[in-house]
Amino acid sequence: MGRKFFVGGNWKCNGTSDEIKKIISTLNAGQVPSQDVVEVVVSPPFVFLPLVKNELRPDFHVAAQNCWVKKGGAFTGEVSAEMLVNLSIPWVILGHSERRALLGESNEFVGDKVAYALSQGLKVIACVGETLEQRESGSTMDVVAAQTKAIADLVKDWTNVVIAYEPVWAIGTGKVATPAQAQEVHAELRKWLQANVSAEVAASTRIIYGGSVSGANCKELAGQPDVDGFLVGGASLKPEFIDIIKAAE
Ligand code: G3P
Repeated sequence: MGRKFFVGGNWKCNGTSDEIKKIISTLNAGQVPSQDVVEVVVSPPFVFLPLVKNELRPDFHVAAQNCWVKKGGAFTGEVSAEMLVNLSIPWVILGHSERRALLGESNEFVGDKVAYALSQGLKVIACVGETLEQRESGSTMDVVAAQTKAIADLVKDWTNVVIAYEPVWAIGTGKVATPAQAQEVHAELRKWLQANVSAEVAASTRIIYGGSVSGANCKELAGQPDVDGFLVGGASLKPEFIDIIKAAE
C-alpha cells in the first residue's frame, strides 16, 4: 500500500488578514495534482483559522500550529484540542522545534500532546529533528529516536500521524538537507518504527521532510524513497508553494 504524498505549509507567526487572503487566493488558483495523489494541509496562526477554513479550496485542509496537552479549562492563552474539533479543524502540528527550543516543550510533553490530540480525533503532524550540535556530535538518530519514542510510548494507532523530520539547522536557514541526508534519517526512522512499533506502521506512516524546502530543491528531495512529502515554512507563504505541491507528481 502506497503512502500518499503529503505537503504541509506552516505559516508560523506570519501574516495580516489581507496578506492571508492574498495567499489563499494564490492557493485557490493553483493547478495541482488531485487529492488521490497529494494531501495538502496549510497551517495559519490560530486567529486566522476560521478565515482560512472558510475561504480555502475544499481539496486543501487546515491545521493548527499547536494545542493544549489536555482538556481545556483554566489555562490562560492556550487553545484546546476540543476547540479545534469544534471548529472542524482536522489537523494539528505538534512538537515543532521552535516550541521545543523557545518554550521548553520536552519529548514527554510533546508525546502527551500527540496522544491527547489523537484521542480527541485530530490528525497530527508530529515534528522531530536534531540541532547542528547534535548532528556534529553524531547523535542525530539518538535524538530523533528519543523524540519518536516519547510519542510511540503513548500512541497505539498511527493512522492519523504524520512524522515531520525537520533538522533544526535547516529550518529558515536556506541550508537544506541534501537528498541523501534526508533519506538517511527517514530510512533510519522507518527502521526504528519497524523495530519498536510494527512493520505495518513503518510501512504506512508518512515521514515528511522540513527545513528550507523550496521550489528549486523539492523535486530531488521528493525522489528519495523514504521522503513522503514536506513541511514547508517560508516558501509556503509564496506562490512557489504550488510548485512544491507539484513535486508529488
Ligand atoms: O515547519 C516548517 C519549518 O520549520 C521549515 O521552515 O522556513 O525552513 O521552510 P523553513
